[in-house]
Amino acid sequence: MKCFYYFKDRNRNREQKSAPILKNLSKFDGISETERITKSSCSATSPRSMPELYEQKAQNLRVFTYSELRQATNNFSRLLKVGEGGFGCVYKGSIKPLEGKGDNLIVAIKKLNKDGFQGHKQWVAEVQFLGVVEHPNLVKLIGYCAVDGERGIQRLLVYEYMPNKSLEDHLFNRAFPTLSWERRLQIVLGAAQGLAYLHEELEIQVIYRDFKSSNVLLDDDFKPKLSDFGLAREGPSPGHTHVSTGVVGTYGYAAPDYIETGHLTSKSDVWSFGVVLYEILAGRRSLERDRPRAEQRLLDWLKQYPADSRKFAIIIDSRLEDKYSLNAARKIAKLADSCLAKSAKDRPKMSKVVETLKQIAEVSSVESSPTKYSEDKPKEEPMKQMGDSESAKRRLAHLAKISEHIGGVSRRRFMMMQRAKVT
Ligand SMILES: Nc1ncnc2c1ncn2[C@@H]1O[C@H](COP(=O)(O)OP(=O)(O)OP(=O)(O)O)[C@@H](O)[C@H]1O
Ligand SMILES: [Mg+2]
Repeated sequence: MKCFYYFKDRNRNREQKSAPILKNLSKFDGISETERITKSSCSATSPRSMPELYEQKAQNLRVFTYSELRQATNNFSRLLKVGEGGFGCVYKGSIKPLEGKGDNLIVAIKKLNKDGFQGHKQWVAEVQFLGVVEHPNLVKLIGYCAVDGERGIQRLLVYEYMPNKSLEDHLFNRAFPTLSWERRLQIVLGAAQGLAYLHEELEIQVIYRDFKSSNVLLDDDFKPKLSDFGLAREGPSPGHTHVSTGVVGTYGYAAPDYIETGHLTSKSDVWSFGVVLYEILAGRRSLERDRPRAEQRLLDWLKQYPADSRKFAIIIDSRLEDKYSLNAARKIAKLADSCLAKSAKDRPKMSKVVETLKQIAEVSSVESSPTKYSEDKPKEEPMKQMGDSESAKRRLAHLAKISEHIGGVSRRRFMMMQRAKVT
């Protein structure tokens, strides 16, 4: 059975008292309660759990009152709204430094718009995971606010502010200048390093479960940082192969084996990473419902243009013009193919992906000469062969199509959930 959740915005701006919730976190914690660990062999000594690690680090997070955050955002002014996702609206805000010393700090404040259990559960997961992890490619959580008032609950998160929006914005929103080839490579490398840290460098393994271009935020140097840890889960403990859980994620990015079985492993993230690799090559979303049926799913459409074929260059984002390395692009496509292997165990670990991406970035920078794009690209490249007026008409039509598409995309936010099939 499949159910779909669409988190609608219910704006509630009520004054309520903020109270620290650290002690209550485990009470609401859905992280391990609903999950069973499947045994493959005898278990080793168990590492500390995420709530235990959180207890140790929790004092690093600031607990804000609701009125502090309301003031920080000018009463959650629409003018300060910087984005909106399935969880709620995100505002730019300015908070006073601790103990009142120094300049105000610019932050992003995410306000949960749903007081249902699922939203709260994700909020708790986000506080716990982001309270524990620490890496240059993961967004920093500064603090939170939790209010249980007479009229319902308020849950907010306060993050470091990421001025350059998300990878999704730069890849697919034509209002932004084209993201250069070098930046694309730099962004996927940083994002891969963030995932490798979660999978391989912590005391416990963390599976991110919602890797997608909108969750890769960009700082002022376009350095990527992963955000949104609401769906993150602890990986299987030593001696276990996977975690069995309800299936949640985003259409177009979730691994098919995970959707099918509910068996979650770090290789589910590797699949999603493969999807994003193709998004940066093609400048196309993993799922575009306004295209002809055969072209809606990026991964299906790509099958006709394998990495080694002459036709491969057709998939490359036309906004890159010829300013990319075709050789490096082929290598990225091959890496993406390995991340998208049908069987999870055939997918590379993220540390291997990082290593390969570093090698590709080197090849790409050495090849400063123009690409062989024009040799490979089929003759009917439309824009280049048209006269000025024809070209202008095409551009206008294209723009109109894009604005329709953007409207569709903003309605696209949804999550999916399916009970795990217990085997
Ligand atoms: N720390 C931040 N700094 C600056 N802008 C942010 C920050 N976090 C989120 N945003 C902005 O808010 C937008 C919405 O983010 P959010 O994570 O709520 O939704 P989403 O990723 O688009 O969708 P989903 O809810 O499915 O994850 C982001 O695309 C980004 O533009
Ligand atoms: Mg997000």
